[in-house]
Amino acid sequence: MHLIMRGGNTAYHIFHWFLGRNRFCHALGLQARVAYPGESLTSLFERNQSQGAWRHFAGNPKLRHTYKDVRTDYLRGVIIHLHGKTALVCGSTQGIGKAVAHQLAAAGASCILLARNAERLQAVCDALPAESGQQHRFYLADFADTASVQAAAAQIAEDGGADILVNNTGGPPAGPITAAGTDAFLDAFRLHLLNNHQLAQALLPGMKARGQGRIINIISTSVKVPLHNLGVSNTIRAAVGNWSKTLANETAAFGITVNNVLPGATRTERLSSIISGKAARTGVSEETVRDEMLAEIPAGRFGTPEEVAHAVVFLASEQAAYITGTNIVVDGGRTPNL
Ligand SMILES: NC(=O)c1ccc[n+]([C@@H]2O[C@H](COP(=O)([O-])OP(=O)(O)OC[C@H]3O[C@@H](n4cnc5c(N)ncnc54)[C@H](OP(=O)(O)O)[C@@H]3O)[C@@H](O)[C@H]2O)c1
Repeated sequence: MHLIMRGGNTAYHIFHWFLGRNRFCHALGLQARVAYPGESLTSLFERNQSQGAWRHFAGNPKLRHTYKDVRTDYLRGVIIHLHGKTALVCGSTQGIGKAVAHQLAAAGASCILLARNAERLQAVCDALPAESGQQHRFYLADFADTASVQAAAAQIAEDGGADILVNNTGGPPAGPITAAGTDAFLDAFRLHLLNNHQLAQALLPGMKARGQGRIINIISTSVKVPLHNLGVSNTIRAAVGNWSKTLANETAAFGITVNNVLPGATRTERLSSIISGKAARTGVSEETVRDEMLAEIPAGRFGTPEEVAHAVVFLASEQAAYITGTNIVVDGGRTPNL
């Protein structure tokens, strides 16, 4: 027998009451299923059958655990679960990468961190949410060294691979394109494009075998509009955008999506160094540089790494299965075009 919950707060409270008596329900052979507010019964049945996401709470400790997560997300109004998924998050010792790892772990994923400093990786790993029994771990690689990324990618694939790959690393140095040497382009190409490609190539066979996968590239709004004084970055970001779109076309039929998240000015160490660099270069105060940057943002503030991470979590979810080959801009409205 199935007990189906629909509606808003009232349904939630009944649901809560019901779950409090799940041993009793188990004895009676009852199972609980919960609908989104306003969801039709037809949609509820289809969703749960297609996703295999019926929630059975009959006295099973593992599933009662799921209940806790459902309850939290139900109150938030969106149900995103990454339980049982493994996410490889690159450049995850600070800034956007670290926030992405936290948000993916909070949604239930086990995280594999990848960067070059073991001590910092360990500290991030230890602090990741693990209430759903996630197993977090890290690997070392220097993205400036193609061979070290290749070795790490092969090891991660051998150790089980990942369902979600988040490509991310530090940005290329700022400066006008007229002053850039050829090495600067080669370094940035290696750091951003070749590493993304090696990691994707290592993980794609596993994703194809499982019939699903997510590749999410943290790039920059300069994929759409070049940014002032970021000549090398602007050039390489466009290449990464086109690499990503091509990969999306080649992998969509395997249930794999490839998308880009394009952050605007986001409060990280990278942003602080861009602000101090510009202040030193132009001889104005950091406050003036900050105010000039804020004046270009309709939202009137810088973004947070967590706000970028939320877009990544959505793209990693089941709900985003039909979104591929596109850019999600997270910039408070700064980019002038669509
Ligand atoms: N923040 C912004 O306003 C903004 C705006 C647009 C685009 N973005 C882009 O978004 C990305 C992330 O930005 P962020 O602000 O979070 O950067 P961040 O604070 O500088 O963090 C970069 C991360 O990448 C790792 N990393 C850097 N170089 C590495 C290397 N050679 N090998 C291995 N790991 C390396 C760092 O780890 P370790 O140093 O510990 O190894 C760190 O975890 C960058 O591409 C950035 O350009 C940022």
